[in-house]
Amino acid sequence: MLHAAGITPQLVVGDVEAGYPPGAPYDRIVATASFRALPQALIDQLWPEGVLLAPLDSPFQCDGLVRLVADGGGRASGRFVGAVDFMPVRGQRVHRSYAEVGWPVWADYHITVDQGWQRVRTDGSGT
Ligand SMILES: C[S@@+](CC[C@H](N)C(=O)[O-])C[C@H]1O[C@@H](n2cnc3c(N)ncnc32)[C@H](O)[C@@H]1O
Repeated sequence: MLHAAGITPQLVVGDVEAGYPPGAPYDRIVATASFRALPQALIDQLWPEGVLLAPLDSPFQCDGLVRLVADGGGRASGRFVGAVDFMPVRGQRVHRSYAEVGWPVWADYHITVDQGWQRVRTDGSGT
């Protein structure tokens, strides 16, 4: 099907956490295994404005699908765009606390319920 569309994919066997520097920089990187901590190597291999779409393991019993846009200087930021469920990457199957990898602690989630209206937000470290 890809060939019919004029696309000739290159298959590389390797560790996703290292990315694939010989082909970088990339417009898009899509990961189909989840990370507890997103690898810096993937951010570094994106063009400025390049997009990383990846499952991020969360404390909410599912992975959050994150869509991050790179700035070309080693930083990327974005938002959660969905809930997904993938197996963790091999190198991240050891326990690391969510606080260690940048999640707000439970006490940072603030919930207000008022007359049938509900709002959840973070404060404190969730910036
Ligand atoms: C949910 S499956 C994805 C299957 C999907 N059809 C694909 O290939 O994109 C996750 C796959 O990631 C592989 N995997 C886990 N850790 C990896 C790593 N560090 N580098 C590359 N692949 C990894 C697993 O062996 C598994 O085949």
